[in-house]
Amino acid sequence: MALLLCLSLTVALARGCLHCHSNFSDKFNFYRDHVNLKSWWVGDIPVSGSLLTDWSQDTMNELHLAIPAEITREKLDQVANAVYQKMDVLYQGKMYFPGYFPNELRNIFREQVRLIQNAIIESRIDCQRHCGVFQYQTISCSNCTDSHVVCFGYNCESSAQWEMAVQGLLRYINIWHKQNTKTSLVSPSFTCLEPPNLANLTLEDASECLMQH
Ligand SMILES: *[C@@H]1O[C@H](CO)[C@@H](O)[C@H](O)[C@H]1NC(C)=O
Ligand SMILES: *[C@@H]1O[C@H](CO)[C@@H](O)[C@H](O)[C@H]1NC(C)=O
Ligand SMILES: *[C@@H]1O[C@H](CO)[C@@H](O)[C@H](O)[C@H]1NC(C)=O
Repeated sequence: MALLLCLSLTVALARGCLHCHSNFSDKFNFYRDHVNLKSWWVGDIPVSGSLLTDWSQDTMNELHLAIPAEITREKLDQVANAVYQKMDVLYQGKMYFPGYFPNELRNIFREQVRLIQNAIIESRIDCQRHCGVFQYQTISCSNCTDSHVVCFGYNCESSAQWEMAVQGLLRYINIWHKQNTKTSLVSPSFTCLEPPNLANLTLEDASECLMQH
């Protein structure tokens, strides 16, 4: 179980993805400092202020992903710049009718959550389209440190390739296992790694399968 937990990484202490972007503080400090003259209705100001203050935390709460929030730097840049662009357009307007400004903020927020979810899931699916153990560099949304996602791709073209992929997985798990427990896994036959169980096998499934022996 420890192996499985490690391979699936941890989602604890989530803090938000956009806030890992280098321009986030500058941009959002500016947005917070300039909410005052954005609405004719004074009640809109505190509402808008707290939407901006809680942006990162609310993002993590809304992601609802079963996989860790790990995003590639390239996709983070894309999402962040799309959000700043929408915000900048909104801030170019002078003063809005009651309710309009916080409502637009909520729309941008929701769109941002969707973009981040897609970015995280797309990278993970691309990763699984390889044959064998594959990894790619990411930024962890929970603490903004460089991280990486490891996945097991089942997209092999021949049974020979598949065998090599499984061997690679066993080596990977053995190395991990030795580093952490100083013992090695024995490898009997793995029915769970044979067709037809391969169609949607993930690295997590594969490691769970191996741990059952
Ligand atoms: C941050 O903003 C500056 C100035 O607008 C821009 O030149 C730079 O490319 C931005 N950085 C990223 C990582 O998007
Ligand atoms: C950052 O969070 C990731 C999980 O997303 C974790 O694996 C990593 O150890 C954390 N790094 C630090 C320095 O806390
Ligand atoms: C693959 O998908 C099928 C049906 O969608 C499901 O019954 C099966 O448990 C899945 N296998 C794995 C290893 O997730």
